[in-house]
Amino acid sequence: MLGPGRLREARARLEQAGQPQLLRFWAELGPARAAALLQELERLGPEELGEHCRRAAAAGAREQGPLERLDARMQPVPAGGLGSTRRSAPAELQRWEAEGFHQISQNKVAVLLLAGGQGTRLGVTYPKGMYNVGLPSGKTLYQIQAERIRKVEQLAGKKYGTKCTIPWYIMTSEFTLGPTEKFFIEHDYFNLDKSNVIMFEQRMLPAVTFDGKAILEEKGKIAMAPDGNGGLYRAMVDNKILDDMEQRGIQYIHVYCVDNILVKMADPVFIGFCVSKGADCGAKVVEKAYPTEPVGVVCLVDGVSQVVEYSEISLETAQKQSPDGQLVYSAGNICIHFFTLEFLKAVAQKLEPQLKQHVAIKKVPYVDEEGNLVKPLKPNGIKLEKFVFDVFQFSKNFVAFEVLREEEFSPLKNADTGDKDTPTTARRALLSQHYRWALKAGARFLDENGCRIPEKISLSGTEDPPAVCEISPLVSYFGEGLETYMKNKDIPSPFIFDESKTEMPENS
Ligand code: UTP
Repeated sequence: MLGPGRLREARARLEQAGQPQLLRFWAELGPARAAALLQELERLGPEELGEHCRRAAAAGAREQGPLERLDARMQPVPAGGLGSTRRSAPAELQRWEAEGFHQISQNKVAVLLLAGGQGTRLGVTYPKGMYNVGLPSGKTLYQIQAERIRKVEQLAGKKYGTKCTIPWYIMTSEFTLGPTEKFFIEHDYFNLDKSNVIMFEQRMLPAVTFDGKAILEEKGKIAMAPDGNGGLYRAMVDNKILDDMEQRGIQYIHVYCVDNILVKMADPVFIGFCVSKGADCGAKVVEKAYPTEPVGVVCLVDGVSQVVEYSEISLETAQKQSPDGQLVYSAGNICIHFFTLEFLKAVAQKLEPQLKQHVAIKKVPYVDEEGNLVKPLKPNGIKLEKFVFDVFQFSKNFVAFEVLREEEFSPLKNADTGDKDTPTTARRALLSQHYRWALKAGARFLDENGCRIPEKISLSGTEDPPAVCEISPLVSYFGEGLETYMKNKDIPSPFIFDESKTEMPENS
């Protein structure tokens, strides 16, 4: 029941906090919407809301000013803490892989998906994980990830003779939780055991105008946005995820973003590398494509591990080369991380308040003073976000592991109208990889007339492979085991290689 006292109190406190605009349309709301707004205001607390708005506006103003350059304080990741699929010895890579599989087989490894983002650049109304980039199989990102989990569980189980489970923790937000849950139910959790798929929700924060006012997105609704992928640490405490991990005996957590179509789920090589090095925190990186590529670089600043954004370094530093001609700061962050449970506990329970709040300037739809809904053409709002990788600074033994971009990183960020990281580039990256795997396994491809399609080994990122062959993760996790089915076989293009086809077509 909405007593006049509650309203009077809320009005007075909002006035005091400099946010009276939030009750501007109160008289028009009707009982249900009025009650919901009041409840939201009480949950946020007018004073805390006012403080958040002041902080956001100040951070937004700082963001407009000159950026602090970090060049003079930077050093690359020390060689001892760096592994590489390109440069480390094959025997070492095998050892790390065996170690990773061993940990998986002991049920000590979990994967954790960051899926709370709004995916505004892609511009779909549903969670990004439900997106189908147009593969012949029509699989969505969630399905691909689920099948990779199943396959890597199988591989580890087979290697060590155990039945193993990799729990899948999925961080969602108010935007993505409902539809993600529904999607998983509709698809029967992609044949994973439901009890091993754990969804939880991150917090939301109000979006704020440049002059420090919370925004109404509807007459009775405050515009809120997820608190960034670094909201993970608070969300884990809020939802008792660390306790759940502890109970399951999890020791190592492989964190990744929803949009990388090539992600190696619970990658045994990366996990084995991090475990072998005794790391508490690790990052997968790819070599920067070119010095001015706008990606964050993993390095040390004043001796402490962190990700430095491209805007924080000078062109000269970005272009700096070592004597062997490699870029000195080439370790591009791709948001794939390794954490020990102990490290996550220390961060979530103690260190999280020290994480920086970053400013994101966005277009936030709002209701104007006359009550009209406006979709702004220019950015009008500040969202404060924490970043998942800002915890590197707390690591006592940080390592980085370099992988090949064409094998492990192709993010889906933009719609096909964008010039990079689109559905087309993601689909191409996956199909090119599968084409390479098939050729390596000894396959030959035929066109619709039965004529041999000439092979093309090195493909540029902008061309489609000459033959289309999609290999289900349930058949092969990372190209292994294909020879049995593909060696010297003529395969019609396009071809979907799923479990039902582990008998390959006879040669013509
Ligand atoms: P991005 O920064 O690319 O954001 O997220 P986004 O929401 O996917 O897309 P845009 O910027 O709105 O177009 C990188 C990863 O972090 C997750 C995303 O779901 C994605 O996996 N993320 C982002 C969260 O889990 N929570 C957030 O608050 C923000």
